[in-house]
Amino acid sequence: DQEIQQLVDKTVRCIPNYPKPGINFRDICPLLKNIEVLNKVIDYLAGKINFEFDYIAGIESRGFIFGILLSQKLNKGFIPIRKKNKLPGEKITLEYKLEYGSDIIEIQADAFKAGSRILICDDLLATGGTAVAANELIEKAQGISVGYIFVIELKDLKGRERFDPKVPVIVALSD
Ligand code: PRP
Ligand code: MG
Repeated sequence: DQEIQQLVDKTVRCIPNYPKPGINFRDICPLLKNIEVLNKVIDYLAGKINFEFDYIAGIESRGFIFGILLSQKLNKGFIPIRKKNKLPGEKITLEYKLEYGSDIIEIQADAFKAGSRILICDDLLATGGTAVAANELIEKAQGISVGYIFVIELKDLKGRERFDPKVPVIVALSD
């Protein structure tokens, strides 16, 4: 656990004041470029999953990267949770509040059968707003959120306190 924490810490770059003043952006590009570390992170996260699930749902856009790698590693299908007006066909939509204004995420209405067990994946857990919205969207689509998986958690922002405490949260680096 400590080795992985250190590897992620070393390969994720902090960019101060991006995209806005006061925000310390976590740049995952150096990690993605380092195939040895990327493989270790995926192996680590995959190895932490000790529950059954049917699909991984990745949140656009950085959740797609890690979600698809995990889905291949774990031999489970991948479902994209997309930002508004990107998916064709019948959709289930969820509007959620941001600091200023609101945003919309969507999933295809026939993405999974009612009662399917869904693991939600994203690169980063910050305030938790995105992941909570993804959870609500899954429930609206009659799925069951059985876990969350992130590469990095910004623990000071206490995003995980907004989740149902019974649902497991897997992270490679809690920073
Ligand atoms: C970032 C990050 C997470 C989310 C975390 O995505 O990839 O999805 O913010 O923040 P929160 O916990 O406070 O909701 P962003 O909206 O920047 O878009 P991107 O993934 O398309 O780059
Ligand atoms: Mg994102």
